[in-house]
Amino acid sequence: MSDTSNIQPFIKVDQITQQFGTQKVLNGVSFEVFPGELVALIGGSGAGKSVILKHLDGLLDPLTGHIYIDGQEISNIPEKKKYPMRKKLGFMFQQGALFDSMTVFENVAFPLGEAGITDEKELEKRVMDALASVGLQGSEDKMPANISGGMIKRVAVARAIVSDPQCLLYDEPTAGLDPIVSDSVSYLIRNICINQGITTLIVTHDMSSVIHIADRIIYLKEGTIHWQGTPRDMIDSPDPMIQDFLHGVSGEDWNKLNNPKLNPDFQQNIIQDAINDRFSTQTSQPL
Ligand SMILES: Nc1ncnc2c1ncn2[C@@H]1O[C@H](COP(=O)(O)OP(=O)(O)O)[C@@H](O)[C@H]1O
Ligand SMILES: [Mg+2]
Repeated sequence: MSDTSNIQPFIKVDQITQQFGTQKVLNGVSFEVFPGELVALIGGSGAGKSVILKHLDGLLDPLTGHIYIDGQEISNIPEKKKYPMRKKLGFMFQQGALFDSMTVFENVAFPLGEAGITDEKELEKRVMDALASVGLQGSEDKMPANISGGMIKRVAVARAIVSDPQCLLYDEPTAGLDPIVSDSVSYLIRNICINQGITTLIVTHDMSSVIHIADRIIYLKEGTIHWQGTPRDMIDSPDPMIQDFLHGVSGEDWNKLNNPKLNPDFQQNIIQDAINDRFSTQTSQPL
């Protein structure tokens, strides 16, 4: 986004702190996500990414600081006042878990039932539309045990969009998927953001996905936002910590293994492919 000075952010996180027992997890986190943007929140395991998402949905309240959704504060307000604000958000949780005993249709219909929608025709139309948006027409009667990992993620995305949210929050949507399925789930997320105009915040470690689909990247470290910028800014960043995260460099000395068959640059090659896909070809436009 070029100039956001006059636009109200859809998500505004203002100096939040959180602590579990004596463990400080968030030490003053601030960031914004603007309408229609796709922002990737990255950071090491245990950095506090999932904890941040739970604050955005009002499942956790910060100890100090404030969170605004579409201009209204969702932090530290009574539970019943959170409900209308939660309706603006669709959430795909880290495990993307479905209810095993329910069909695909029933899983996707679940949030509508929770919202008190009982009209069968409306229910059916909305579930079928959501399944069509994720490319799963015809799978409504299947059970979760009988579909692939990639389809389970698609059903979880359908369940997150069925209530027509203005904003989607995804927690590690490509975790556990093979690279090809992961690529098509990334495409789906970007497609929903563009075609349905849904503001999107995605928590992920999958740097290939981040380079492909993010408008902006926010890097969380030690409970604060250490860095933020576009994928281009990240690729060009002189910050060694950012470069190591981008390229998956652990600092291990691979040469010590002294095995010519090992390719220490394998992760770098995957990322270089993603960078080439997004930025180097003349024919494809940047997202
Ligand atoms: N409900 C909780 N109670 C106690 N500790 C928690 C709770 N939720 C998260 N944590 C801790 O907070 C830290 C950040 O967790 P999390 O946000 O899940 O990390 P990640 O960045 O991998 O998503 C971890 O050390 C985790 O163990
Ligand atoms: Mg997590």
